[in-house]
Amino acid sequence: MMKPLTLLFLLKASCVSVSAYTPLSNSTLTNSISPLDSFISPLDSSSLLSKILIPRVPGTPGHAAVQSHFLDFVKTQLHPDWVVEWHNSTSVTPATGDKLVPFSNIILRRDPPWVSEGRGDTGRLTLAAHYDSLYKPEGFLGAVDSAVPCAMLMEVLRGVDKGLTRKWEGEGEGKDGLEEEKGVMVLLLDGEEAWVNWGEEDSLYGSRALAETWENTKYENGEHFDGPLQAISLFVLLDLLGAAEPTVPSYFENTHWAYENMARIEGRMRGLGALETKPKRSFLYEAGKKDWFQKGYIQDDHVPFMRRGVDILHIIPTPFPAVWHTMDDDGAHLDVPTIRDWTKIFTAFVAEWMDLEGHMPERKGEARDESTESRYPEKDEL
Ligand SMILES: *[C@@H]1O[C@H](CO)[C@@H](O)[C@H](O)[C@H]1NC(C)=O
Ligand SMILES: *[C@@H]1O[C@H](CO)[C@@H](O)[C@H](O)[C@H]1NC(C)=O
Repeated sequence: MMKPLTLLFLLKASCVSVSAYTPLSNSTLTNSISPLDSFISPLDSSSLLSKILIPRVPGTPGHAAVQSHFLDFVKTQLHPDWVVEWHNSTSVTPATGDKLVPFSNIILRRDPPWVSEGRGDTGRLTLAAHYDSLYKPEGFLGAVDSAVPCAMLMEVLRGVDKGLTRKWEGEGEGKDGLEEEKGVMVLLLDGEEAWVNWGEEDSLYGSRALAETWENTKYENGEHFDGPLQAISLFVLLDLLGAAEPTVPSYFENTHWAYENMARIEGRMRGLGALETKPKRSFLYEAGKKDWFQKGYIQDDHVPFMRRGVDILHIIPTPFPAVWHTMDDDGAHLDVPTIRDWTKIFTAFVAEWMDLEGHMPERKGEARDESTESRYPEKDEL
């Protein structure tokens, strides 16, 4: 379809501020945002979390087992339209001498079914967490760092998946192709942790490699976006979540509007009695912040993307949980109601961003067990 150039310019200019959506209704917030109880239980060895909560140092068998767990989850629990991609790289580390350590980011994305890949018409809400664990101390589990954020992201995807299907089935091919499309992407990043001492060369192995690759990847005829980096509408990084009483500031002025949207969801859900915790302060306590944004920021997986101009929402508490980088960062030190509440907040945030009001099925009363039976037929059986 041909488009007048001027219109294209207008659309490009307006892309910056596309955030118009229908807020989720009270009943959607109460009845449709409902993570499965069992997903996060650190005591149940078959839970989504337990399968991640093992030592998973890059290049070790535990690391490979966690990768298969993610892939199994996508295959059995999510719609077949989810695309799984690997981004693999290798690097030396100061702990391993000349040996090249493999780092593998896992990229999951789902776009509207009518858009064709590689054309650059889909902007993606991008949620990220790292799945590797610290090399030392040996046996370190990294529950808040970041097994829990990874498990929450899986549960968020399960929580919006049917809503996406219903919305897109309803809209079908009726789109005029003029607007940019909206998709969802999850990045399970590898090699976030330093092996010896945190520094530019020793940390963020996976995210540095991925941001560089995407910077150099250009779409053939990008309609709205030149490449995958530009197509990230917002990069939401989850880290160090799962301990009680988290306080997450708004770190960046340019994405404070997104922080406010998430904080509004938290406030509304608390008002509706849809959250379990009763913290002294809201998790997202800086919604009213005006201008006292700091110049500094926490070193984390968002940095290689931020340096390349990507908008970042960093969901990491300050102060860090007391268990951070100690052997106590395990299942026993998690606060399960806090984890469920975060999962609800993130699920609602994604559902609202993707404009799923009216499409989210009720989940209350849905079978609560984590059936291992596939919800969807095998991809190649379709
Ligand atoms: C990337 O590495 C993983 C193991 O870490 C492997 O299973 C996968 O096949 C690799 N993918 C590509 C495209 O090289
Ligand atoms: C939604 O719930 C809030 C808080 O309970 C209430 O004040 C508001 O009136 C409700 N909105 C609708 C449309 O029912």
